[in-house]
Parts: sequence; C-alpha cells; structure tokens
Amino acid sequence: MDDLIKQAADDLAAAGKVTALTGAGISIESGIPPFRGKGGLWERFDPMEIAHIDAFMRDPARVWNILVKEMKKIVDIAVPNDGHKGLAKLEEMGKLKTVITQNIDGLHQAAGNTDVIEFHGTFAWQRCMDCSRKYETRQVDISVIPPRCSCGGILRPDAVFFGEMIPPDALRRSRQIASDCDVMLVVGTSAVVQPAALMPVIAKESGAKVVEINPERTPLTDEISDYLIPGGAGDVMNRIVAELEQIS
Ligand code: APR
Repeated sequence: MDDLIKQAADDLAAAGKVTALTGAGISIESGIPPFRGKGGLWERFDPMEIAHIDAFMRDPARVWNILVKEMKKIVDIAVPNDGHKGLAKLEEMGKLKTVITQNIDGLHQAAGNTDVIEFHGTFAWQRCMDCSRKYETRQVDISVIPPRCSCGGILRPDAVFFGEMIPPDALRRSRQIASDCDVMLVVGTSAVVQPAALMPVIAKESGAKVVEINPERTPLTDEISDYLIPGGAGDVMNRIVAELEQIS
C-alpha cells in the first residue's frame, strides 16, 4: 500500500492537469449508503421501480415516499469526509482542476472544490415538472407528498433518473476534461453505469494515467486503470496528500 501511495503522489506531482471522477463510495464515510454491494440502496429497492423516470411519472407520491424522503433525511445531515476534503486540498495545491461526480449530495462543493460537474444532477434542488421553477430541497415542505410548486405542478429532484439523459453541458465538459487531463483519480465508483464509466476510458485513450481508489476491484481494474489503491477514500486521500506535501 505504501508503494502505491508514493506512486500516486509522484504521479500527481509530475502532472499538470489532474481531474477526478467520483461515485457513491466517496460519500459512504459521510453516512450516505452506496447503490450497489453490501448495504446498497438497490439491495433494498428495485431501481427500475423507484429510480426510473417512468416510475416517477406513473406514481410520483410513491417515489417521493420511498426514495426522495429517505434521501432527504440522509443528505440534509451529511457533511464532507476526508475523501472529499483530500480532493479539495489537491485543488488548493493547484493540482486538481475539476471533479466529475456521479453523486447528487453536493459534498464536493461543501468540502471546497470550486469546479464540480454534477454528471447525474443534484439533490440540492427540486424542480417543477410544469414550469421548471426550482426550490432548494432544504426549504421544501414534505408534509404534503408529492410537494407542489406555486403553479400547482409536482416537484421532482433536479437529479437524473434512470431513463433520462445526462445534462448535455455536463457530458460535453466531462468528455473534454477527460481527454485533456494527465491524471484521472477514479474514487469510489463501481464503474458499471454509462456514460460516466466511459470517462476513465477517454482519459486513458488520451494518454492520461488512471488511478483507482476503491476497497474493491472494478471492471476498470487492470483493464483501463494503471493501478488500484485498495482502500477507503478518506484514509487513502489523507495519505496521498501527506506524501504529496512532503515531495512538493
Ligand atoms: N471509499 C471508496 N470507495 C468505496 C468505499 C470507500 N470507503 N466503500 C465502498 N466503495 C466502493 C465500492 O467498492 C463500489 O465500487 O464504492 C463503489 C460504489 O459503487 P456504487 O454503489 O455502484 O456507486 P456508483 O458507482 O456511484 O453508482 C453509479 O449508479 O445507481 C446509479 O445514479 C446512481 O450515480 C449512481 C450510479
């Protein structure tokens, strides 16, 4: 493990442009469950039944009661952990430019990263399905389900449900940044959901080093990523930053 930490610090020290692709794994240490694997949301719920746009259109109250209220309780109290803070520290050190995240929890911004591409949208805002007016989730009164806009329209999370497109600007910018970086840190994603999982492939094909941080192997390991650092995001990012500070 020490060798891999040193390798990562050396790669970051030598890099001009560093970017990160993150997934649910980086927020586990902030109390937000992952989607897959042990304790994952999709172990308890069928994603096609409660996280697909057709399911929401069919019965918004059901999706609100099962998924959105659950997410709101958890996201409202979550705070950044050392994984998020480590990436913010890399930005402060002038290394990391942009975080591309699949997460909708806003924790990268709360940790201090200033350029965060929310590839799957955000849970910080709810949007009216009729007039598109936005409401801050914290302000939304969920005593009435589904909550409604002043125009009478139903509110929905400003996040990407299964069956929906990735926000075009987020996709365009992510592709551009992936093809232009020297190092891509891939932190806490199972790398099975497209097109997010394509970003490390684009980075690799454009000559970048791809470094995975994950307690488990993924489809990227030994195929696309140069190496996997097998550990939790908080501990690994702390050690990489400490090593980088020593050699910078
Ligand atoms: N630190 C880093 N990674 C971790 C940690 C940790 N402490 N604990 C677990 N992991 C890893 C797991 O090994 C797994 O590979 O985090 C990953 C979480 O994978 P998923 O739950 O599949 O999350 P993600 O890859 O973000 O899912 C992608 O799928 O359901 C949709 O829209 C949803 O954005 C989500 C997308």
